Formats: sequence, structure tokens, C-alpha cells
Amino acid sequence: MAELVLALDLPGRDPVLHLLDQIGGPIWVKVGPVLFNRGGPDLVQELIGRGHTVFLDCKWHDIPSTVERAVESAGVLGVSMVTVHTLGGKAMLEAAKTGAEKSGTKVVGVTVLTSHTPEQFGAAVGHATPDLLPEVTRLTGVARDVGLDGVVCSPLEVSAVRNVLGSGFAIIVPGIRRAKDQQGDQHRLAEPGVVIEQGGTHLVVGRPIYNATSPPDAYRAFRKEIQ
Ligand code: C5P
Repeated sequence: MAELVLALDLPGRDPVLHLLDQIGGPIWVKVGPVLFNRGGPDLVQELIGRGHTVFLDCKWHDIPSTVERAVESAGVLGVSMVTVHTLGGKAMLEAAKTGAEKSGTKVVGVTVLTSHTPEQFGAAVGHATPDLLPEVTRLTGVARDVGLDGVVCSPLEVSAVRNVLGSGFAIIVPGIRRAKDQQGDQHRLAEPGVVIEQGGTHLVVGRPIYNATSPPDAYRAFRKEIQ
């Protein structure tokens, strides 16, 4: 069954523990730079100590040896999965894999951010990309060939990514919204059910849960849609 991963993009330990106490658990949580830069490794270890499965999403994109050691450090901390940018290139991705193997964590590659429109991505890479799908599937192929554990993609690309990966790889999908949820800065979105049908394994949801009037009710509603 697919996992619902709660993105904890909150400004520190107190709001996070309050939210998690409301929701109960243990559950899958995603710690990104918003929280890590406040709570650091101590908070990550506290979350793991409370039984939560931690996905550390810092999207590393650096020279290979730095990425290898960053991934290794995260694994030593006890996180279950980390992210690197596939645009960091083959040598960097191989180094990430080595770091993951040394420390027993999993590593997945971010393809194209869910906040990017084709125009924005084209402007960033310096050439027109009227269709992002070929770029996402190309980067997915690189991640697969290097032996990463999976990729992160938008809800609109899950089916094509699953075709490239075959079975046995994780597909992490942010940009999940129901019709009633606010879009925020996300551009490539879909509802949870569609993502599950197409082969998504980890659905990442943040603001529609932690900004809801009742976060526990919102969390349960998303879980129900996933099941
Ligand atoms: O609040 P929201 O549901 O939009 O949160 C989505 C989460 O997924 C954020 O933590 C964001 O950093 C992350 N993410 C993303 N797009 C990617 C990779 C990760 O939105 N391509």
C-alpha cells in the first residue's frame, strides 16, 4: 500500500510536536530545510525516537564527495530516505548511492520540481522545454541506471515514470491536492486517487493538512483517499 507522507514545513519543534500529537502515529514524515534549519539533527532523532519514519528532503545538489558524505551522515542519523537532485549528474548520483549503501538509508532523485511550469524550467536550464515529460523521464532513466531507489516527480508524470522504472522502485509524489485544497505555489497537481492508480508509492502532503482547520481530520481524509 502507498504511504501518506506528512511534509513538516513548520518553523520549529513546538508546532511540529503539537501537530504530531494531534495526529497520533507513528507515521511517515518529511523533514525539509524549513524544519531542519530550526530543529536540526536533534529534532530528527527525536522524531525517529517517537517511532516516526523520517524522510529527509534537503535535495542535495553538490560535488560528488560532499553529496556522498551528506547522504551517509543522514543515514547514520537514522533517516529512512533522502533526496538529491538528478540534475546533479551521474557522478553525483553514484556518490549519493555509495553514501546510502554505507549508512543503510534509501536515496531518491528529484526530477523536475512540482512548482515549475515548462516556461520556468526552460528559463532555468536555458532552452525551451514546452513539454516537461521528456525531461522528467530522461532524468528518471539516469536515476534508474545509477541504481537509486526511486524518484520524486509531479502527479502528472507518475504513469510515464512508472513505465521507465518498472516495478520495485519508489515514486515519491508531492503536489497532491483535492479539488477543495488551495494550490499555493504548486503548478503540476493531481488528486490522491489518480496518483495511486498510476503507481505512486509515497504521496507527500503538507499545507492541505497542517493548515487545515482540523489537521487530524485532514490527515485521516487523505489516508482514506489513499486506501
Ligand atoms: O505544502 P505542500 O503539500 O505543497 O508540500 C509539498 C512538499 O513537497 C514540500 O515540502 C516541498 O518542498 C516538497 N516537494 C515538492 N516538489 C518536489 C519535491 C519536493 O513540492 N519536486
